[in-house]
Amino acid sequence: MKPSGEDQAAPAGGPWEDCFEAAVQLALRAGQIIRKALSEEKRVSTKTSAADLVTETDHLVEGLIISELQERFPSHRFIAEESAAAGAKCVLTPSPTWIVDPIDGTCNFVHRFPTVAVSIGFAVDQELEFGVIYHCTEERLYTGRRGRGAFCNGQRLQVSGETDISKALVLTEIGPRRDPATLKLFLSNMERLLHAKAHGVRVIGSSTLALCHLASGAADAYYQFGLHCWDLAAATVIIREAGGIVMDTSGGPLDLMSCRVVAAGTREMAMLIAQALQTINYGRDDEK
Ligand code: IPD
Repeated sequence: MKPSGEDQAAPAGGPWEDCFEAAVQLALRAGQIIRKALSEEKRVSTKTSAADLVTETDHLVEGLIISELQERFPSHRFIAEESAAAGAKCVLTPSPTWIVDPIDGTCNFVHRFPTVAVSIGFAVDQELEFGVIYHCTEERLYTGRRGRGAFCNGQRLQVSGETDISKALVLTEIGPRRDPATLKLFLSNMERLLHAKAHGVRVIGSSTLALCHLASGAADAYYQFGLHCWDLAAATVIIREAGGIVMDTSGGPLDLMSCRVVAAGTREMAMLIAQALQTINYGRDDEK
């Protein structure tokens, strides 16, 4: 079923309905722009490393989303990937705050690898209210609203109930850093999970879409160091509303700004993954 903007989520009504509807419409519009641009020539620049890419489409889409939302909701605040890269502070205050990744999977986008998404999260009183993620090429709209369930194109999402690592499909992402300590940690964590006999460890190049696979029950766990709040905000609501767990890699509560996450269909699985991981301090989004 294709997303139409109306048939893809829980029944209308409830708090922040107009914000949710605006997010859905903007994600669909942004997705059209990204889908068209995927096969075209791109101007590519680097940010924090040679693997941290940005294109004119990232800027265009972020500008579109923020300008439209600012016009409709002038008192709201914004945290967005390319604004942060340009030096904007990432501070999550109690004010209604939009947390935006205009293209998640920019490296995929640059290579025309069709796993790319738009991610729009929304928090009030520092609590995530809803998340909207649009898989631009497969035209899948994932939504989650606090207390109202998670959906993909109208179908309710449900995480897997797996509790045994030796039966798990685990997802992760490397992030943009390529320094020796980061690479060592990435490879050693993958090795630890393979030693624990996980069925597989997958890297698809879009953390938000990997997290949507987890919410759909198509994978059992996810972990990453270096994941920013704009990669995680929308997906966190979707996973929680699909019955899953999102926590810190220490096994403690999630801190959206800490750049560390373990997510799983069950608390048992999340704790097993957290215990298996070697950790590293990545710095926080709100300290940059
Ligand atoms: C990145 C992707 C990538 C993950 C990085 C993210 P971007 O987002 O999700 O898979 O490894 O940590 O920052 O830069 O494509 O929006």
